[in-house]
Amino acid sequence: MTDKTLTMTFDGGEQTYPLLSGSVGPDVVDIRKLYPDTGMFTYDPGFTSTASCQSAITFIDGEKGILLHRGYPIDQLAEQSSFMEVAYLLLHGELPKKNELDTFTYTISRHTMLHEQLSTFYRGFRRDAHPMAVMCGVVGALSAFYHDSTDITDPLQRMIASHRLIAKMPTIAAMAYKYTIGQPFVYPQNSLSYTGNFLRMTFGVPAEPYEVNSVVERAMRRIFILHADHEQNASTSTVRLAGSSGANPFACIAAGIACLWGPAHGGANEAALNMLREIGRPERIPEYIARAKDKDDPFRLMGFGHRVYKNYDPRAKVMQQTAQEVLDELGISDPVLDTARELEQIALKDDYFVEKKLYPNVDFYSGVILNAIGFPTEMFTALFALARTVGWVAQWNEMISDPEQKIGRPRQLYVGAKRRDFVPVDKR
Ligand code: ACO
Repeated sequence: MTDKTLTMTFDGGEQTYPLLSGSVGPDVVDIRKLYPDTGMFTYDPGFTSTASCQSAITFIDGEKGILLHRGYPIDQLAEQSSFMEVAYLLLHGELPKKNELDTFTYTISRHTMLHEQLSTFYRGFRRDAHPMAVMCGVVGALSAFYHDSTDITDPLQRMIASHRLIAKMPTIAAMAYKYTIGQPFVYPQNSLSYTGNFLRMTFGVPAEPYEVNSVVERAMRRIFILHADHEQNASTSTVRLAGSSGANPFACIAAGIACLWGPAHGGANEAALNMLREIGRPERIPEYIARAKDKDDPFRLMGFGHRVYKNYDPRAKVMQQTAQEVLDELGISDPVLDTARELEQIALKDDYFVEKKLYPNVDFYSGVILNAIGFPTEMFTALFALARTVGWVAQWNEMISDPEQKIGRPRQLYVGAKRRDFVPVDKR
């Protein structure tokens, strides 16, 4: 709370509301009493001016291109920490000490296997099902398996559910991939790192040993860290809203996966690579830039623009560098990376993109990396869901333990028909 206030005047009245200050970032107007005081709601479709909760997990300054997790800059985490350290940090608020990290890593590794019965769920899907459809279904189905960790009022049970979700997501995503290509499921190997284990379950086969490439492992680690959390984005808000009713944690995460799937959110990495492939070569870029600027053409530059970042997305910088490292390591020369770089340069100098502050976002380069590693485009969003699960469970835990938490229940500006009487069908 600050001693600053905001006064609103309206026909016949004036009301003053307190301003709340966070540790950094803009103040927020506390309008919780607006409706009882005035009988009015606020109108903010897309929540562009609305803070839906208090959170101490992630801070973004979109104007300056800053992203901090629990205060630590994302580039330092991507460069120096392991995914398990970031997961611990997001969940518990502090970087783990060595013994805490060892215990956490061990605990996660104990939960990597799926209940064997879950493999039959996969067999119910068509082989060409989108992995996100499979992820939604299988993660939702986890709610039927773990009845010992669904008393959400018990912090210990919440933490067990969180560990299970973090641990099982790589197994679930890898199995979704194996199912589509008709290969046997590969069981987890707990001596490997979180990312190494995922790579082996995805690309390994039971017929021969799988050697984890350290450059690819590092790239995957960075990709996972860069996607781990992003404050109150659409899918995280979905998880919080679903969880606000006291719903089962696994079902809440399935809801987050459903939201993430859309092309305006997590689906953008798949859409960005498809777009870069369609552009094909640098000479065709001006044509696509013109289309992106044309008001009558629904085409948008995928991987460009962001609700919050009005500057270069700090995650995109790490992605661009990682893309080059992976292509060099794997000896791949991909014209798509050249097209991406050139497109970025042209767009960043174009008045339309400059005025609207549209910069590359995290998804612009991630597809190039994932493609080089060997993931089909349909898997991209599934990998995003895998990594974001850590943020989802951290935010869900924070919400449940927040004493101000209430069921999320927005209101509306009603523009439909006023009261009228029913007319029988033969008189309409
Ligand atoms: N290409 C062309 N024009 C764009 C783009 C783009 N990628 N993004 C925004 N614009 C334009 C809009 O047409 C709009 O123009 P107008 O003011 O003349 O109407 C203006 O910029 C503002 O765009 P909005 O859609 O109103 O901004 P919003 O904050 O609602 O959308 C979004 C953000 C959805 C990310 C948008 O920039 C977009 O569709 N980008 C492409 C999809 C994408 O890359 N999504 C990934 C986001 S990151 C993530 O989820 C991990």
